[in-house]
Amino acid sequence: MKGVVLAGGSGTRLYPLTRITNKHLLPIYDRPMVTYAIEALVGAGVTELMLVTGGTHAGEFLRLLGNGHEYGIDRLSYAYQERAGGIAEALGLAERFVGGDRVVVMLADNVLELSIRPAVESFSRQEQGARILLSRVENPEHLRHLGVPELDGDDRVTRIVEKPAAPPSAFAVTGIYFYEGSVFEIIPSLTPSGRGELEITDVNNWFVSEGTMEYDVLDGFWGDAGESIDAYYAVNDFVRAHGANKVLG
Ligand code: DAU
Repeated sequence: MKGVVLAGGSGTRLYPLTRITNKHLLPIYDRPMVTYAIEALVGAGVTELMLVTGGTHAGEFLRLLGNGHEYGIDRLSYAYQERAGGIAEALGLAERFVGGDRVVVMLADNVLELSIRPAVESFSRQEQGARILLSRVENPEHLRHLGVPELDGDDRVTRIVEKPAAPPSAFAVTGIYFYEGSVFEIIPSLTPSGRGELEITDVNNWFVSEGTMEYDVLDGFWGDAGESIDAYYAVNDFVRAHGANKVLG
């Protein structure tokens, strides 16, 4: 399974912190944000990675990560996204790198308390399709800034709504996505959303409509450090107190 870390976008919700650097290079506790996503993937046994980034600070990632060996990466490739055209567009740049294999995609502003190894193993056993990881979020106002699944009585996802005015469940779709190689055939058929982006939620809803979308509910803390300045500090506080990407005993 290949891994793709998405670290493009414009980071406007963290302005002015992100006027002078890329969001994913800002510190979370004692190291740059992007290293948490890399640690999550490498810790789960995914060691062939592509980092997708863009903007004016792309070169800093090379300086930070180099060939990746220091981080446990076997092979690290880079791609450059010309403009912040959306998560699905950024993933599309990894098509040749993934080369028909399965892929786990992680947004570089997502931080987890616990290892994603169990989910990687579940997807390895899954015959086809895609898999998302959900996190319980009690506050409906928070859910309005995220992707939210609608679930039926049989524990199936029936649709995912991006930034819903009325959240259809108490779960967020986190920024960790598993796909079979056919995901790259779907991306060219997408049309930009109201915010002018190719949405990963549209990709996920394609798998929902095919009946091949599975999910796990995450244990432990999950945070999106790019959501707001307050969320950024909440993630910092959590990691400082409790750590990240931990393997349970
Ligand atoms: O964090 C989880 C949420 O991430 C999900 O619940 C949503 O369904 C999903 O759409 C996404 O929402 P955000 O509004 O938080 O996405 P954002 O635009 O902040 O992008 C998240 C990351 O994706 C960003 O840190 C880097 C990467 N990205 C984003 C864009 C727009 C790119 O690499 N290129 C891009 O063009």
